[in-house]
Amino acid sequence: MNLILMGLPGAGKGTQAEKIVEKYPIPHISTGDMFRLAIKEGTELGQKAKSYMDEGALVPDEVTIGIVEERLSKDDCQKGFLLDGFPRTLAQAEALDELLAKMNKSIDYVLHVDVDTDELVERLTGRRICPSCGATYHIKFNPPKQEGICDKDGEKLIQRKDDQPDTVKNRLEVNLEQTQPMLDFYSDKGSLVKIDGSQQIDQVFHDIDEKLKNLM
Ligand code: AP5
Ligand code: ZN
Repeated sequence: MNLILMGLPGAGKGTQAEKIVEKYPIPHISTGDMFRLAIKEGTELGQKAKSYMDEGALVPDEVTIGIVEERLSKDDCQKGFLLDGFPRTLAQAEALDELLAKMNKSIDYVLHVDVDTDELVERLTGRRICPSCGATYHIKFNPPKQEGICDKDGEKLIQRKDDQPDTVKNRLEVNLEQTQPMLDFYSDKGSLVKIDGSQQIDQVFHDIDEKLKNLM
Protein backbone atom coordinates (compact mmCIF):
# COMPACT_ATOMS: atom_id res chain seq x y z
CA MET A 1 0.00 0.00 0.00
CA ASN A 2 1.27 3.44 -1.01
CA LEU A 3 -0.07 6.15 1.26
CA ILE A 4 0.20 9.86 1.91
CA LEU A 5 -0.71 11.31 5.29
CA MET A 6 -1.59 14.97 4.91
CA GLY A 7 -2.61 17.57 7.46
CA LEU A 8 -1.61 20.87 9.01
CA PRO A 9 1.09 20.98 11.69
CA GLY A 10 -0.30 19.27 14.78
CA ALA A 11 -3.14 17.49 12.98
CA GLY A 12 -1.78 14.18 14.27
CA LYS A 13 0.18 12.84 11.29
CA GLY A 14 3.07 11.54 13.39
CA THR A 15 0.73 10.07 16.01
CA GLN A 16 -1.35 8.22 13.41
CA ALA A 17 1.71 7.17 11.38
CA GLU A 18 3.08 5.31 14.42
CA LYS A 19 -0.18 3.36 14.66
CA ILE A 20 -0.48 2.69 10.93
CA VAL A 21 3.01 1.17 10.57
CA GLU A 22 2.51 -0.89 13.73
CA LYS A 23 -0.43 -2.64 12.05
CA TYR A 24 0.72 -2.45 8.42
CA PRO A 25 4.51 -2.87 8.28
CA ILE A 26 5.51 -0.35 5.62
CA PRO A 27 8.29 2.25 5.96
CA HIS A 28 7.23 5.52 7.61
CA ILE A 29 8.83 8.35 5.64
CA SER A 30 8.56 11.67 7.47
CA THR A 31 10.45 14.54 5.89
CA GLY A 32 10.30 16.43 9.22
CA ASP A 33 11.96 13.46 11.00
CA MET A 34 14.57 13.17 8.24
CA PHE A 35 15.47 16.84 8.59
CA ARG A 36 15.59 16.65 12.40
CA LEU A 37 17.91 13.64 12.22
CA ALA A 38 20.16 15.44 9.73
CA ILE A 39 20.35 18.46 12.06
CA LYS A 40 21.21 16.22 15.02
CA GLU A 41 23.94 14.51 13.01
CA GLY A 42 25.27 17.84 11.69
CA THR A 43 25.15 16.79 8.02
CA GLU A 44 25.09 19.14 5.04
CA LEU A 45 21.35 18.50 4.65
CA GLY A 46 20.84 19.46 8.29
CA GLN A 47 22.70 22.71 7.80
CA LYS A 48 20.52 23.55 4.81
CA ALA A 49 17.26 22.76 6.61
CA LYS A 50 17.89 24.22 10.06
CA SER A 51 17.27 27.93 9.48
CA TYR A 52 14.00 27.27 7.65
CA MET A 53 12.73 24.90 10.30
CA ASP A 54 13.64 27.19 13.20
CA GLU A 55 11.51 29.94 11.66
CA GLY A 56 8.64 27.62 10.82
CA ALA A 57 9.22 28.15 7.08
CA LEU A 58 9.28 25.40 4.45
CA VAL A 59 12.58 23.89 3.34
CA PRO A 60 13.05 24.63 -0.40
CA ASP A 61 11.28 22.19 -2.75
CA GLU A 62 14.40 21.02 -4.56
CA VAL A 63 16.05 19.92 -1.30
CA THR A 64 12.94 18.16 -0.03
CA ILE A 65 12.07 16.46 -3.31
CA GLY A 66 15.67 15.22 -3.58
CA ILE A 67 15.65 13.43 -0.22
CA VAL A 68 12.27 11.82 -0.86
CA GLU A 69 13.35 10.61 -4.28
CA GLU A 70 16.42 8.99 -2.74
CA ARG A 71 14.41 7.40 0.05
CA LEU A 72 11.69 5.98 -2.22
CA SER A 73 14.31 4.29 -4.38
CA LYS A 74 15.36 2.06 -1.44
CA ASP A 75 14.36 -1.63 -1.53
CA ASP A 76 12.12 -1.51 1.52
CA CYS A 77 9.69 0.77 -0.36
CA GLN A 78 8.87 -2.02 -2.81
CA LYS A 79 6.19 -3.36 -0.45
CA GLY A 80 4.69 0.10 0.03
CA PHE A 81 5.32 3.31 1.99
CA LEU A 82 3.69 5.91 4.16
CA LEU A 83 4.66 9.49 3.34
CA ASP A 84 4.12 11.85 6.30
CA GLY A 85 4.44 15.60 5.75
CA PHE A 86 5.32 15.23 2.08
CA PRO A 87 4.15 16.56 -0.35
CA ARG A 88 3.50 19.94 1.24
CA THR A 89 3.38 22.15 -1.86
CA LEU A 90 1.78 21.69 -5.25
CA ALA A 91 5.26 21.56 -6.82
CA GLN A 92 6.16 18.68 -4.50
CA ALA A 93 2.92 16.86 -5.36
CA GLU A 94 3.62 17.19 -9.07
CA ALA A 95 7.23 16.06 -8.66
CA LEU A 96 6.08 13.03 -6.67
CA ASP A 97 3.57 12.17 -9.37
CA GLU A 98 6.27 12.19 -12.04
CA LEU A 99 8.61 10.15 -9.90
CA LEU A 100 5.99 7.48 -9.12
CA ALA A 101 5.03 7.25 -12.79
CA LYS A 102 8.68 6.52 -13.62
CA MET A 103 8.69 3.82 -10.93
CA ASN A 104 5.39 2.36 -12.19
CA LYS A 105 3.70 3.06 -8.89
CA SER A 106 0.70 5.07 -7.79
CA ILE A 107 -0.80 6.38 -4.56
CA ASP A 108 -3.68 4.34 -3.13
CA TYR A 109 -4.95 6.94 -0.66
CA VAL A 110 -4.15 10.47 0.40
CA LEU A 111 -5.42 10.55 3.98
CA HIS A 112 -6.20 14.15 4.88
CA VAL A 113 -6.36 14.49 8.66
CA ASP A 114 -8.53 17.55 9.12
CA VAL A 115 -8.55 19.63 12.34
CA ASP A 116 -9.60 23.23 13.09
CA THR A 117 -6.71 25.69 13.30
CA ASP A 118 -7.62 26.84 16.84
CA GLU A 119 -7.15 23.37 18.19
CA LEU A 120 -3.82 22.94 16.43
CA VAL A 121 -2.19 25.74 18.44
CA GLU A 122 -3.07 23.98 21.71
CA ARG A 123 -1.88 20.63 20.37
CA LEU A 124 1.49 21.97 19.20
CA THR A 125 2.35 24.09 22.21
CA GLY A 126 1.43 21.17 24.54
CA ARG A 127 3.38 18.56 22.60
CA ARG A 128 6.37 16.86 24.21
CA ILE A 129 8.65 14.38 22.47
CA CYS A 130 11.20 11.78 23.50
CA PRO A 131 14.64 12.76 22.17
CA SER A 132 15.71 9.12 22.28
CA CYS A 133 12.91 7.08 20.64
CA GLY A 134 10.87 9.87 19.02
CA ALA A 135 7.61 9.01 20.81
CA THR A 136 5.10 11.88 20.90
CA TYR A 137 3.00 12.92 23.89
CA HIS A 138 0.74 15.80 24.85
CA ILE A 139 0.65 17.31 28.34
CA LYS A 140 -3.18 17.20 28.34
CA PHE A 141 -4.42 14.98 25.50
CA ASN A 142 -1.88 12.16 25.63
CA PRO A 143 0.21 12.44 28.79
CA PRO A 144 2.91 9.91 29.70
CA LYS A 145 2.29 7.74 32.79
CA GLN A 146 4.89 9.72 34.73
CA GLU A 147 5.02 13.48 34.06
CA GLY A 148 7.84 14.48 31.71
CA ILE A 149 9.18 10.92 31.28
CA CYS A 150 8.91 8.65 28.20
CA ASP A 151 6.80 5.51 28.85
CA LYS A 152 8.95 3.44 26.52
CA ASP A 153 12.49 4.14 27.72
CA GLY A 154 12.39 6.44 30.76
CA GLU A 155 14.04 9.36 28.90
CA LYS A 156 13.25 12.94 29.89
CA LEU A 157 10.79 14.49 27.40
CA ILE A 158 11.58 17.75 25.61
CA GLN A 159 9.70 20.39 23.62
CA ARG A 160 10.47 20.81 19.91
CA LYS A 161 12.13 24.15 19.17
CA ASP A 162 9.49 24.96 16.52
CA ASP A 163 6.65 24.36 19.01
CA GLN A 164 7.16 27.75 20.68
CA PRO A 165 4.00 29.90 20.24
CA ASP A 166 5.49 32.43 17.75
CA THR A 167 6.92 29.76 15.47
CA VAL A 168 3.71 27.75 15.65
CA LYS A 169 1.76 30.72 14.28
CA ASN A 170 4.13 31.06 11.35
CA ARG A 171 4.09 27.32 10.58
CA LEU A 172 0.31 27.27 10.46
CA GLU A 173 0.13 30.31 8.17
CA VAL A 174 2.73 28.95 5.75
CA ASN A 175 1.11 25.53 5.58
CA LEU A 176 -2.46 26.83 5.30
CA GLU A 177 -1.50 28.73 2.17
CA GLN A 178 -0.12 25.59 0.51
CA THR A 179 -2.84 23.14 1.49
CA GLN A 180 -5.84 23.93 -0.71
CA PRO A 181 -4.08 23.60 -4.10
CA MET A 182 -2.85 20.15 -3.03
CA LEU A 183 -6.27 19.07 -1.80
CA ASP A 184 -7.69 20.08 -5.20
CA PHE A 185 -4.91 18.19 -6.99
CA TYR A 186 -5.59 14.91 -5.16
CA SER A 187 -9.34 15.36 -5.15
CA ASP A 188 -9.24 15.60 -8.97
CA LYS A 189 -7.28 12.36 -9.04
CA GLY A 190 -9.88 10.66 -6.83
CA SER A 191 -7.42 9.50 -4.17
CA LEU A 192 -8.32 11.99 -1.43
CA VAL A 193 -9.93 10.67 1.77
CA LYS A 194 -10.96 13.14 4.46
CA ILE A 195 -10.48 11.95 8.04
CA ASP A 196 -12.00 13.84 10.99
CA GLY A 197 -8.84 14.48 13.01
CA SER A 198 -10.61 16.33 15.83
CA GLN A 199 -11.76 13.05 17.38
CA GLN A 200 -9.87 11.07 20.03
CA ILE A 201 -6.61 9.53 18.83
CA ASP A 202 -7.96 5.94 18.79
CA GLN A 203 -11.14 6.96 16.94
CA VAL A 204 -9.08 8.77 14.28
CA PHE A 205 -7.04 5.60 13.82
CA HIS A 206 -10.21 3.50 13.64
CA ASP A 207 -11.49 5.65 10.76
CA ILE A 208 -8.16 5.43 8.93
CA ASP A 209 -8.03 1.68 9.46
CA GLU A 210 -11.53 1.22 7.99
CA LYS A 211 -10.16 2.64 4.73
CA LEU A 212 -6.89 0.69 4.81
CA LYS A 213 -8.61 -2.65 5.39
CA ASN A 214 -10.11 -2.27 1.90
CA LEU A 215 -6.64 -2.35 0.41
CA MET A 216 -5.69 -5.72 1.88
P1 AP5 B 1 7.10 18.14 10.49
O1 AP5 B 1 7.91 17.47 11.50
O2 AP5 B 1 6.48 17.36 9.42
O3 AP5 B 1 6.04 19.02 11.25
P2 AP5 B 1 4.56 19.43 10.94
O4 AP5 B 1 4.00 19.16 9.60
O5 AP5 B 1 4.55 20.83 11.39
O6 AP5 B 1 3.76 18.42 11.74
P3 AP5 B 1 3.95 18.07 13.20
O7 AP5 B 1 5.00 17.04 13.40
O8 AP5 B 1 4.13 19.34 14.00
O9 AP5 B 1 2.51 17.56 13.59
P4 AP5 B 1 1.79 16.17 13.38
O10 AP5 B 1 0.68 16.33 12.41
O11 AP5 B 1 2.77 15.07 13.13
O12 AP5 B 1 1.15 16.03 14.81
P5 AP5 B 1 1.48 15.05 16.03
O13 AP5 B 1 1.04 13.67 15.73
O14 AP5 B 1 2.87 15.24 16.53
O15 AP5 B 1 7.95 19.31 9.78
C1 AP5 B 1 8.76 20.17 10.54
C2 AP5 B 1 9.42 21.20 9.63
O16 AP5 B 1 10.24 20.52 8.65
C3 AP5 B 1 8.47 22.07 8.79
O17 AP5 B 1 8.02 23.19 9.51
C4 AP5 B 1 9.39 22.44 7.61
O18 AP5 B 1 10.28 23.47 7.97
C5 AP5 B 1 10.19 21.16 7.39
N1 AP5 B 1 9.52 20.27 6.42
C6 AP5 B 1 9.03 19.02 6.67
N2 AP5 B 1 8.48 18.49 5.57
C7 AP5 B 1 8.62 19.43 4.58
C8 AP5 B 1 8.23 19.49 3.22
N3 AP5 B 1 7.57 18.46 2.63
N4 AP5 B 1 8.54 20.60 2.50
C9 AP5 B 1 9.19 21.63 3.06
N5 AP5 B 1 9.57 21.65 4.37
C10 AP5 B 1 9.29 20.56 5.12
O19 AP5 B 1 0.44 15.65 17.11
C11 AP5 B 1 0.61 16.96 17.65
C12 AP5 B 1 0.24 16.96 19.14
O20 AP5 B 1 -1.16 16.70 19.29
C13 AP5 B 1 0.94 15.86 19.96
O21 AP5 B 1 1.23 16.36 21.22
C14 AP5 B 1 -0.11 14.74 20.03
O22 AP5 B 1 0.04 13.95 21.20
C15 AP5 B 1 -1.41 15.51 20.02
N6 AP5 B 1 -2.49 14.80 19.30
C16 AP5 B 1 -2.37 14.06 18.16
N7 AP5 B 1 -3.58 13.60 17.77
C17 AP5 B 1 -4.48 14.08 18.68
C18 AP5 B 1 -5.90 13.94 18.81
N8 AP5 B 1 -6.64 13.23 17.94
N9 AP5 B 1 -6.49 14.58 19.86
C19 AP5 B 1 -5.75 15.31 20.75
N10 AP5 B 1 -4.40 15.46 20.67
C20 AP5 B 1 -3.78 14.85 19.65
ZN1 ZN C 1 11.34 7.32 24.38
